[in-house]
Amino acid sequence: MEDKIKEIGRQIEDFNIKDKETLEKFRIQFLGSKNVLKDLFAEIKNVAAEKRKEVGQSINSLKNKAQIKFDEFTECVNEESEENTGLDLSLPGDNFKLGSRHPLSIINEEIIDIFGRIGFSVSEGPEVEDDWHNFSALNFPPEHPARDMQDTFFIKKEEKEIALRTHTSSVQVRVMENNQPPIRTISPGRVYRNEAISARAHCFFHQVEGLYIDENVSFADLKQTIQYFAKEMFGERTKIRLRPSYFPFTEPSAEVDVSCSLCEKEGCNVCKYTGWLEIMGCGMVDPNVLSNAGIDPKKYSGFAFGMGIERMAMLKYEVKDLRMWSENDVRFLDQFKSAW
Ligand code: PHE
Repeated sequence: MEDKIKEIGRQIEDFNIKDKETLEKFRIQFLGSKNVLKDLFAEIKNVAAEKRKEVGQSINSLKNKAQIKFDEFTECVNEESEENTGLDLSLPGDNFKLGSRHPLSIINEEIIDIFGRIGFSVSEGPEVEDDWHNFSALNFPPEHPARDMQDTFFIKKEEKEIALRTHTSSVQVRVMENNQPPIRTISPGRVYRNEAISARAHCFFHQVEGLYIDENVSFADLKQTIQYFAKEMFGERTKIRLRPSYFPFTEPSAEVDVSCSLCEKEGCNVCKYTGWLEIMGCGMVDPNVLSNAGIDPKKYSGFAFGMGIERMAMLKYEVKDLRMWSENDVRFLDQFKSAW
């Protein structure tokens, strides 16, 4: 009996399983319903009673051995058959397409970074704004045309109190209401105007507002800050030009032009042969606005400026149609991958 057990042990070890068929033969021989081990179990009754337990255990361990070998080879044979189905695991993987930052986000962050270097923090305000922050506190007279339905999206038709902000100057007011000078902050964000969509106008776009309030802030500080910004943004050789303008919330007010970096003032179709490109509005914060927001205009003065991010991006990337920024055509957006 012991010899038989040893012999079957050897057979299990030596059995050469190469493929599915030999695996099946192995299963029938050692684990099937008429397997050789069953015959051994049947013979236990002929073994001397005191040895029966030991023999029983030996046969059981043979059974385990067969089962383990069978399980191992089942796994191998299955893996092989997967390879045979044509699945080549050594092939390179499929490339998955990486997205890219939106060009407006790239420009926005560049602006934040440029002002961050001279100590401007970032403040944000709500896009749904009340009349006070968007207009009244900013010195817009009640009959001002900008409040009209033509320019402003009101939330409720009959009630002109709440609207989508038409500019980020609303955030100026919020910052001044909640902080005392010195204040040095920029406010990037989305703004809305009721305009027909074309290559040059959109019903929503983005602005960055700047605000600096302290004792003795002068127009010279404003000019120098904008000069610094223009050089950082458009290159060291950039010049600025200020033209008198009007905003209800600044006095005096100006429109800022930068020298066209494409033609260096020679004249090209981007600057419409003027050599200059308009980039922002600015001015000294009107004393009425300071007192409306709880800041003493006798003690403090300051400047503000506001620029369109789409406009900056158009100048920097030479894009001529404003609609491109919000169409989200991946073929267009993909071109800015290397810009960050
Ligand atoms: N809010 C103005 C606009 O939307 C821009 C501006 C901001 C002008 C701050 C002066 C000072 O056109």
